[in-house]
Amino acid sequence: DAAEKAGFETFMLKEIHEQPTAIHDTMADRLHEDGSVDMAELALDDAALARIGKIQIVACGTSYHAGLVGRHLIEEWSGVPVHVEVASEYRYRTCLAGPGDLVIGITQSGETADTLAAMRVARQRGAHVVALTNIMGSQATRDADGVMYTRAGLEIGVAATKTHVAQVVALALLSLKLGRLKWHLTPEGARELASEIAALPGIVSTYLDSDAANDVADVARSYSRRPFFLYLGRHVGVPVCFEGALKLKEISYIPTEAYPAGEMKHGPIALLDEGSPVVCVATDSHVFDKVVSNIQEVKARGAQVIAVATEGNSEIEEHADAVLW
Ligand code: BG6
Repeated sequence: DAAEKAGFETFMLKEIHEQPTAIHDTMADRLHEDGSVDMAELALDDAALARIGKIQIVACGTSYHAGLVGRHLIEEWSGVPVHVEVASEYRYRTCLAGPGDLVIGITQSGETADTLAAMRVARQRGAHVVALTNIMGSQATRDADGVMYTRAGLEIGVAATKTHVAQVVALALLSLKLGRLKWHLTPEGARELASEIAALPGIVSTYLDSDAANDVADVARSYSRRPFFLYLGRHVGVPVCFEGALKLKEISYIPTEAYPAGEMKHGPIALLDEGSPVVCVATDSHVFDKVVSNIQEVKARGAQVIAVATEGNSEIEEHADAVLW
């Protein structure tokens, strides 16, 4: 029955609506109110985790983008440096991983050849390799020292949705655990983060059931004939743009470019014509004002801006032609 569409038009739409459950199940029995996290399947005890010097993440496609989001979480919450690389490049480069390093292979299917090869290279160098995957018993779990399972259920859609979100949640849990073990987070700080993470399933449900989700359809309809899209974001908004652009390419075959907003003036701004749609991730953050100035730059070139913004931020409406709250 999991392989049925349950009344949805497509598997992808069904799986988008399964995200609250995927998030809830991925954190269940791991995340505790006091901010502690159980992840025994990592096969790294707390003492070993506390000694981790650096982390490398290897993945492909949407899983790679989850790794880029995870890097912000791990570095911010635990202070451990993270290097994220597409597996097809990592496997042919000089591998500097070694004992005392943690290498995470993120692969929803657990079978992607480049990711498996990159994990093997790291393991041969003596790193502790963990498979972050959605499929128990997949090849990645057999080639790794430890595992971290997303519990998103079967994902039929070719474009990953609920598994991507579940990967980010799993990395958030790892970041929280590392942050506590490294004393980079105080007990109080960990408790606050734990309650914010625990609230995610409800937040996603509320969004999916809200008018905001319908507004997306209206915006999509009015821009569906444009020949090109540019996605811009800053900080954690950059991997969000990479993933958004990948989805647009994979699902609608519209040529799309995604860039860190600060880089836009060094090239891609030349691609903008009158009316070019530019999607900007402009959610509330310490770089919000910088994103607004980038929006003004592209508006000056005649582009039309679709902003992804935090509900209630009235300032963004002065700058964007459309807002996805
Ligand atoms: C691609 C899929 O073939 O593989 C992407 O189209 C996916 O959606 C990528 O992100 C990586 O797959 P996996 O299973 O290693 O996460």
